[in-house]
This record gives sequence, structure tokens and C-alpha cells, in this order.
Amino acid sequence: MAETTKTAKLTIDGNSYDLAMYAPTDGPEVIDIRKLYAQAGVFTYDPGFTSTAACDSTITYIDGEAGVLLHRGYPIDQLAKQSHYLEVCYLLLYGELPSAAQLEEFETLVTRHTMIHEQMHNFFRGFRRDAHPMATMVGVVGAMSAFYHDSTDINDEHQREVASIRLIAKMPTIAAMAYKYSIGQPFVYPRNDLDYASNFLRMCFSVPAEEYEVNPILARAMDRIFTLHADHEQNASTSTVRLASSSGANPFACIAAGIACLWGPAHGGANQACLEMLREIGTPDRIPEFIERAKDKNDPFRLMGFGHRVYKNFDPRAKVMKESADEVLELLGIENNPTLQVAKELERVALEDPYFAEKKLYPNVDFYSGIILDAMGFPTSMFTPIFALARTVGWVSQWKEQLADPQLKIGRPRQLYLGAAARNYVDIETR
Ligand code: SDX
Repeated sequence: MAETTKTAKLTIDGNSYDLAMYAPTDGPEVIDIRKLYAQAGVFTYDPGFTSTAACDSTITYIDGEAGVLLHRGYPIDQLAKQSHYLEVCYLLLYGELPSAAQLEEFETLVTRHTMIHEQMHNFFRGFRRDAHPMATMVGVVGAMSAFYHDSTDINDEHQREVASIRLIAKMPTIAAMAYKYSIGQPFVYPRNDLDYASNFLRMCFSVPAEEYEVNPILARAMDRIFTLHADHEQNASTSTVRLASSSGANPFACIAAGIACLWGPAHGGANQACLEMLREIGTPDRIPEFIERAKDKNDPFRLMGFGHRVYKNFDPRAKVMKESADEVLELLGIENNPTLQVAKELERVALEDPYFAEKKLYPNVDFYSGIILDAMGFPTSMFTPIFALARTVGWVSQWKEQLADPQLKIGRPRQLYLGAAARNYVDIETR
């Protein structure tokens, strides 16, 4: 726990209350209000948690004003360009970059856990073929708690470790199986001679009728997309995982809850919604129409892939994603991709518009990711499952961190009650 740096004074109805404050490594200081209700009989009020630190953490730091994202202190642009996803997984899980031997051992461990129990294949067949792959992932990941009983005891450190590796290792297999099921093609088993990203691409795009060669450009781009989505502090889905875990729920149930929350278009579902929006815009000449709609308070339409609760500057992940989009599409010979042209023009027009400038709305991680995934051959319905796949390590790392916290209590927010005052029941004859 952080040290008390100073005291905040709160005065209510002439009574004064001293509240301890703690200083972070970086970012805003916090006011400890845990005893406020007991001392002053009042709650704080913060729907949406715009000014609330729900926990302390050592995993990820975001400076929204500066557009900075650090994982265990390392900037995301350096990790995306110089590291690779499984090394970033190790960093998020264990706090330090691995030695060569540690990395090899970790990669071998993950690789050897990529298959799922054969009987779990039956779960997929219970879904309609046109089910959204996110629905399938929520169901199948939750069902893991019905199969992996030897890694559900959250009080056993070894079982927590086994569950962590199983989730990171099996998520690409489950996501790929959800995709194959949705297009009526046979499941493809993982291969131990392929790296994490190549394995996923092969499980998605190979068919038994012919050999499949992984394109190294796509594999590198896929790995970079995984890294850019790995963790992001206390976002909605991570907070969901933490809250679910605070009741003592098993890891598979908690991660399934995180997948369900990520699905929303305001969160991880924005990558799918953004590409669909760019396609609806179609050509740059229609951009002004959509910009006006986004600014119209009476129109629920928002620019998908734009804006962020924390970033009031460029999302550093969007910068790397934009560079990667240019690189991948050029290498694939589709640099004149009309959707990419619309995205770049939309970004330019929006960033010059006072509405977006005043509200500090910039492209976020979801603005360019869909363009790359589309160019790689994924349908939009697979965009959020890929986000969920990549974010699994972040959810698992935050889940482990919370369970190791001696201060862990069940999360139980209160409310500002505005309903009816106490009143007596009225018989129907007299209503
Ligand atoms: C992710 O939290 C995380 O870290 C999430 C994430 C992660 O890695 O886990 O980064 C991943 O979820 C990225 C965000 C993906 N979502 C979208 O791209 C959907 C479009 N964006 C918006 O829905 C919105 O920007 C949110 C949900 C992302 C943030 O919403 P906030 O913080 O609640 O902000 P807000 O809705 O209060 O907006 C502030 C103002 C409002 O106008 P006023 O009421 O003040 O007049 O900005 C406007 C909003 O109307 N606004 C937008 C807008 N986003 C905000 N107007 C038009 N288009 C937009 N995209």
C-alpha cells in the first residue's frame, strides 16, 4: 500500500473530517474515502467512475493528457515495435522482462496448452451457425469451469498459475473455433511448431484441402495487434473481471464476464462498429454528413473509434496501429484501400473541427485496427473476439494482482437512492 503523503480536509455541516492521501509513482494523488461513511454518514457519488480509483495496481499506467501508455513502466510503442506478444504477456504477468531462458520456458508452456478438451467441441455445436462469435466465446470460456476443475481454486497459487496459462494459451484456439464454426468449416487444431500469432492465423484460415503457409507480414501485424490490446488499466471489462473475482468466482467465470463486457460497442465492440461506419460513409465526400451527425446532440450517432474516457490526446496505440495499417496494406499491395482513405480523411477533418478539438476527441485503439483485420481477411464479427483474445493476458494479470492483495474485499458499491419513501401496501380493491 502507498504511504500517506498528506491529509485532505472535508467539512460537512461544520464538522471536519481528515482523509488520508496517497501519492502514486505517477499520475493523480488519491484521497482515501474508505472510512468516510463510518465517520461522516455520507457516500461519494461518481457514476461511471470518472474520478474514482477502484484499486491500486503496478501493471499499467496511462497518462491521458499526454497520450502515454506504460506496461510495467515500458512505453507501448517500444513494446509494439521491439517486443512481441508472448514476451509482453510475461511482462504483464510477472512484472519484469524475461531472460532468454525464462522466455523460452514460458513460450513452451503456453504452446503446450493451446488445445482444448475434445469434449468442449460439443459446446460450439449448440450454437446457431450465425451466432456472433462473441456469444460463442462467452459461452465456451465460461464452460471451461466445467472442464478444468484442477485450476479453479483461487486460493491455490499453483491453480491460479495453471488457469492463467490455460486461458492465455487456449483463447486463440477458442476464437478460431468460433470463427470456423460460424462459416461452416472444420475446426483446425493448433500446431506446436508455430508461434502464437501464426498459430492463430492458421487455425482461422487453413482448410484441410490444402497446405497453408502463414504470411510473415500478417503474422507480425497480428502479433502487434495482440500487443496493442494486451492491457489497459481499469477499463470497463477489466473492472468487470475484478468485480466478479472479488466474490471468489472461478477464473473462467471471471474472464467470461470480461468478454461479455468487452462486447459492447462503447468498449471492445467499437472496432467492429468503426469499420461498419467507415464502410457506411463509403467515400470522403460523405464525411461532412457524418461529422455533423456526430456533433448533433439529438442524434445518437457517434464517431466509432473516436474519443476515450482517459485519453484526451492521441491514443498511443492508435498511432502505432495507423503506422501498421499503412505498412501492412502497402505490403499486401492494397495501399489504395478505400476504407483506409476514408479513415485518414475522417481523422483529418474531425481533428480540424472545433467540436472534436474542444472535447479532446482523438482516434482510439479501435479506429485503425479494423482496417488491418479486414485486410487480413477477418469478417467484422471477428474483430472483437480478437480484442478479447489479446486482452485475456491483461484480465488475467489484473485478476492475479487483485487476488494477491491482502486488502481484497468483495466489491459492493452503494447508491444515491431517489426512489419512493417507505409506504404501506394497498389492497387491489382500494387502488
Ligand atoms: C475502448 O477504457 C478503456 O481503456 C477502453 C479501451 C481499452 O483498451 O480497454 O481503450 C478500449 O473501449 C476504446 C473506446 C472505444 N469506443 C468507441 O470508440 C466508441 C465511441 N466513443 C464514445 O462512445 C466515447 O468516447 C467513449 C465511450 C469511448 C468515452 O465516453 P466517455 O468518457 O463517457 O465520454 P462522454 O460520453 O462523456 O463524452 C464526452 C463528450 C460528450 O459530449 P457532451 O455530453 O459533453 O456534450 O464527448 C462527446 C460526448 O457526446 N463524445 C463524442 C464521442 N465520444 C464522446 N461525440 C461524438 N463522437 C464520439 N466518438
